[in-house]
Amino acid sequence: MSGDLHDFAARVVAWQKHHGRHDLPWQETSDPYRVWLSEVMLQQTQVATVRTYFTRFVERFPDVWQLAAATQDEVLGLWSGLGYYSRARNLHLCAQQVVTQYHGQFPRRAEELQTLPGIGRSTAAAIASLCFGERVAILDANVKRVVTRVLGFDADLAQAVNERALWEAAGGLLPAQRVARTSMMDYTQGMMDLGALVCLPKKPLCTTCPVLQQCRAAESGEPQRYPVRTRTLKRSSQSLWLLWLRGADGSVWLYKRPPTGVWAGLYCMPVFDSDHELREALPVQLQKRLRMQPAFRHVLTHKDLHLHPCVIDLHQGQRAEWGEGRWFSAAQWPALGLPAPIRTLLEAPGGA
Ligand code: ADE
Repeated sequence: MSGDLHDFAARVVAWQKHHGRHDLPWQETSDPYRVWLSEVMLQQTQVATVRTYFTRFVERFPDVWQLAAATQDEVLGLWSGLGYYSRARNLHLCAQQVVTQYHGQFPRRAEELQTLPGIGRSTAAAIASLCFGERVAILDANVKRVVTRVLGFDADLAQAVNERALWEAAGGLLPAQRVARTSMMDYTQGMMDLGALVCLPKKPLCTTCPVLQQCRAAESGEPQRYPVRTRTLKRSSQSLWLLWLRGADGSVWLYKRPPTGVWAGLYCMPVFDSDHELREALPVQLQKRLRMQPAFRHVLTHKDLHLHPCVIDLHQGQRAEWGEGRWFSAAQWPALGLPAPIRTLLEAPGGA
């Protein structure tokens, strides 16, 4: 029988204790700096990938003061490969605000955390509940599956009014006020773990679910139909020509991208909108040496990029200068913040 949700939270808490995840590096602590860092990394990246980045980050920046004092280039360099670089830029800004406005102490309340760069409603609630036991609901993509399915919530989440109603409903499932202090950490982690390990998008493992008896979607026989969202992302595509100047010593010419737009703040080869524009920018003697490599596709959230690498190998001792940017040696460029496809290109056998 579904519908009786009085012990929903207690079931989630009990399940998390025995079947949830306990070995993640950011679970060893309730230090808000570490929890915040891990939650931002986990926003769009799998746990397995985050583990190594998280460890490297806290080794290099053990606290919020050291992160705040770093240069943006160093932060982007350490982030390189995680993608969605606005997260790294906001992370750095957030660290600086915590230091300047809060004396290095993260605010304890979700409402206040949410005013900081890169901390949305769900991330704020995750930090406040995991570190300080605040009674607030999280609602990331994994948890949305759990909540919509349990409640049989089939309103279209493309509409803001329904999204708001779902937040409201998620609040209704929280542990009762009188037990919140002691159970919010396990509840929040339990909801995340249920979403990630049991309540899977296509083939949910309902037979192992602690709230199966309460789940309207399971009762309907088609849990995978939830959540309902009609609007699909409008995708666009763009072609870019990359001028890949290589020195005989493995050096490469790169420049720092402007602070907004695609690959903001990262290092990249000079980029052109057409083959023609790229050639126009070259002196005649270099135009003849241009070699086009096969184009490849790189998928961003809202956009497919078609990238056309155009290589010029310079002779020993030959140096070209390109206005913006500079040469980076083979020892230097790997440590830069590079867009993932640019790193792949540079690292490919026969690359730079
Ligand atoms: N995804 C987002 N936050 C998480 C956490 N704390 N543990 C596991 N997966 C997560």
